[in-house]
Amino acid sequence: MGLNLAAINSLNLNKLLRRSLEPVAYRFDGAFVKPSNITLSLTNRCNLACPTCAFWKTPNEAKETELTLDEMKTLLAQLREWLGPFVLGLTGGEPFLRPEIFDLIDEADRLGIRTMTVNNGSLLPPRRIEQIKKSPIDLISFSLNHLDPAIHDETRGHPGSAEKIFKAIEDLNYPGRPFKITLSTILMGYSIDHLPDMARWVRDKGLDGITFQILYFESGNDDYEPGWFKKSPYWDDDADKINRGMDALIAARKSGLPITNSVEQMEYMRRYLLDPEGPQDIPCKVGVANLDIEPDGTVRLCDVMDAVGNVREMHPRDIWHSAQAHERRKQIHGCGAACRIKTCNFRQPLLSLAKGQLFPAADGQQ
Ligand SMILES: C[S@@+](CC[C@H](N)C(=O)[O-])C[C@H]1O[C@@H](n2cnc3c(N)ncnc32)[C@H](O)[C@@H]1O
Ligand code: SF4
Ligand code: SF4
Repeated sequence: MGLNLAAINSLNLNKLLRRSLEPVAYRFDGAFVKPSNITLSLTNRCNLACPTCAFWKTPNEAKETELTLDEMKTLLAQLREWLGPFVLGLTGGEPFLRPEIFDLIDEADRLGIRTMTVNNGSLLPPRRIEQIKKSPIDLISFSLNHLDPAIHDETRGHPGSAEKIFKAIEDLNYPGRPFKITLSTILMGYSIDHLPDMARWVRDKGLDGITFQILYFESGNDDYEPGWFKKSPYWDDDADKINRGMDALIAARKSGLPITNSVEQMEYMRRYLLDPEGPQDIPCKVGVANLDIEPDGTVRLCDVMDAVGNVREMHPRDIWHSAQAHERRKQIHGCGAACRIKTCNFRQPLLSLAKGQLFPAADGQQ
């Protein structure tokens, strides 16, 4: 099914209004603004074993606690009734470990909710590719860290991972496809010089963009270890290399290569790479913008702080207004962590929303 323009306009209007109110909401608790960044994690389980991530250590038994398809459909209806049209991010662990993802995307579409997903590209045999082509999904992102298969595979803990991504992209990237295809790439010191080449590859393939995420402490591990980067094989603290790499990446963005991060965010990334635990002078908006729903229905505002409720027990709207959420917002105010410069805290610019764009555009202008 194509995009419903009326739904997208009211969707963008919703998002525009919420995002404009965020600074005030941030100062005064925030519950009066509805969240604009909704993610549902379908599972914490994963079939790969990336050294940068802890999700793959989730035992298989966790499957028993995951929301069922019916529970997820009820949740979608509650969210739609509360939020109006919105964009739902489907993530994991590896989201394609749950075949129900296709029914969920259909249901979201029926309710006027747009969907995007990020995946590791390793669970897309021809049958799944055909399902994606027929599904009303709006954006599918592939996590690719390097164009050299050996280097990418090393960051994913599995030989053959890169080739599977290249094959899936080739199969899905047909002329006139109605969904966007992007890359999600970890910005690591050790590969920084290679990143403009990846952006050029995205442009040459006719894909819709590449989004960089800073290398941070292990995804899915809430027990932050100070100084973790000193042990990471992917960290490089050569200041000249970092400055040269970030200058080249910003120049690539300004020259119109399809990088979706803003120049402003890339300057924060540079500062972070040079001083990963140093102060970052921007507010963290997760308390007024984010609703992260985990596979068992647990809801968090910040993904490493305590939960604020569970959708199995409460309507998401009531969780948003709960005393726990209020407490967590206070805690977020006092937090000084550097993960505020992650891409989820640098969401789509207001101008691009006003132009009616559903996702951050990679037009070299922002
Ligand atoms: C946790 S994964 C979940 C979705 C899916 N399994 C995938 O890899 O695309 C979401 C994103 O986090 C990225 N990621 C993993 N570890 C990271 C880290 N330590 N720092 C920053 N990003 C990380 C992955 O590359 C991926 O793009
Ligand atoms: S980053 Fe994604 S593919 Fe890698 S272990 Fe984590 S969840 Fe799995
Ligand atoms: S900066 Fe603090 S509040 Fe924000 S996401 Fe990181 S840990 Fe959470």
